[in-house]
Amino acid sequence: MTESATLSGGFGSVVKKVFVKSYGCQMNVYDAARMSDVMVGQGYTETSGADDADLVILNTCHIRERAAEKVYSELGRLNELKEQRRSNGLDTTIVVAGCVAQAEGREIIRRAPVVDAVIGPQSYHRLPDLLRIARETGHAVDTEFPDADKFGALPAQSRERIRSRGITAFLTIQEGCDKFCTFCVVPYTRGAEISRPVAAVVDEASRLVEAGVREVTLIGQNVNAYHGLDAAGRTASLAGLVERLALIPGLARIRYTTSHPRDMSDDLLAAHCDVPQLMPYLHLPVQAGSDRILAAMNRKHRAADYLQVIERVRAARPDIAISSDFIVGFPGESEADFADTLRLAAEVRFAAAFSFKYSPRPGTPAAEMADQVPEPVRSERLARLQERLETDRQAFNRATLGRVVDVLVEKPGRHAGQLSGKSPYLQAVQTSGIEAAVGDVVPVRATALGPNSIFGEPVGHDTPHTMVAAA
Ligand code: 5AD
Ligand code: SF4
Repeated sequence: MTESATLSGGFGSVVKKVFVKSYGCQMNVYDAARMSDVMVGQGYTETSGADDADLVILNTCHIRERAAEKVYSELGRLNELKEQRRSNGLDTTIVVAGCVAQAEGREIIRRAPVVDAVIGPQSYHRLPDLLRIARETGHAVDTEFPDADKFGALPAQSRERIRSRGITAFLTIQEGCDKFCTFCVVPYTRGAEISRPVAAVVDEASRLVEAGVREVTLIGQNVNAYHGLDAAGRTASLAGLVERLALIPGLARIRYTTSHPRDMSDDLLAAHCDVPQLMPYLHLPVQAGSDRILAAMNRKHRAADYLQVIERVRAARPDIAISSDFIVGFPGESEADFADTLRLAAEVRFAAAFSFKYSPRPGTPAAEMADQVPEPVRSERLARLQERLETDRQAFNRATLGRVVDVLVEKPGRHAGQLSGKSPYLQAVQTSGIEAAVGDVVPVRATALGPNSIFGEPVGHDTPHTMVAAA
């Protein structure tokens, strides 16, 4: 059932507008675009703010501290906006989507009656139906984990809309997680692991490339556990999928995130050697360096296992940039445990990293554990870890200086004549005096370091490239 997005009036018709406000991870960025596509398919146009939106969708994230409380305060603000618009004769529909919607469900409507519909991440293709039910009955909630392939039911993105989003794109290939780390809400909000079939991913990637996309990042909570069916009914690994995607003419770069250390298979390492389009970058969260804490986290690997994976990865691709996620102050973490984390970071020397203070998520096992670490200790440890990680990040970037790296041009730079893009190692690079178009891959010599980017000069296409040494 479709709904008309046009308000007919005596003076012609007004097209309705949708605003999707998204928080959190890359999968949410992808989901926000797809929800917006669904509504554009219903005749809506996108708008960039809530003020003039007839439909506001909050695409929420549950991973950060007090996530639900932040959503309720945002809904308080939207309530005022809705009242204000109503006094001007305008209706506003408010939808809460994403992981807070999944976790809180009907409770959202109880606490914030301003909300018309609550929709979990597995049900976006049912958005138009849900809006109809909300209109007919006052509100609607859908937080089921359906079996149907929601991706197959989502409308394809149009060329124009793909193009408007730039030359790099996220593509969800896997969703959910079966690992159940004790601190994490993802297995509860995104459900069990599912992988999209190879053909569906290849079709979507081909459409992206036809519309001008040059780099695709394959995303999933456990992307390297991907096991999608191929046309012959066999299971393809992430490496198999990457090899297939590399056959798409015009697709210059392939990336993937986020991986689990337990699922770093040999064929994926081989793909890092053999598939030139697969970029030398690996985001591999470790979370902690102490075996006692890793066990309490239910990470299913020890520190030594992680270091061994890093060794195998670097043997396969010596220049690879490795990034990670860390949690400090997990319940029971002693100073000695934390010293293990610092030691592991020092040993690996990460090119980049995200680090967080542990914070309890309601409903997860770790939230119930005794021995929660006091806040000042967590803050102090986070500061020490971040100092280490920042030193290593800068050292990695410094190692690029004087070398030639291929830069995928993403947009004009901040100043006239500048271009801005990314190195294979996901470093932001600014260049000037270069004849190139957005989407070109150009060799650039790195000449200077800024706080968050590298400055480079063009060199000839025949200049030999030098790898950034990891060790
Ligand atoms: N507390 C702190 N950090 C967390 N993360 C996930 N859950 C928590 C939590 N309860 C971090 C992990 C994960 C990243 C996406 O967020 O490091 O890899
Ligand atoms: Fe969460 Fe662990 Fe699954 Fe990652 S592997 S999504 S941290 S449960």
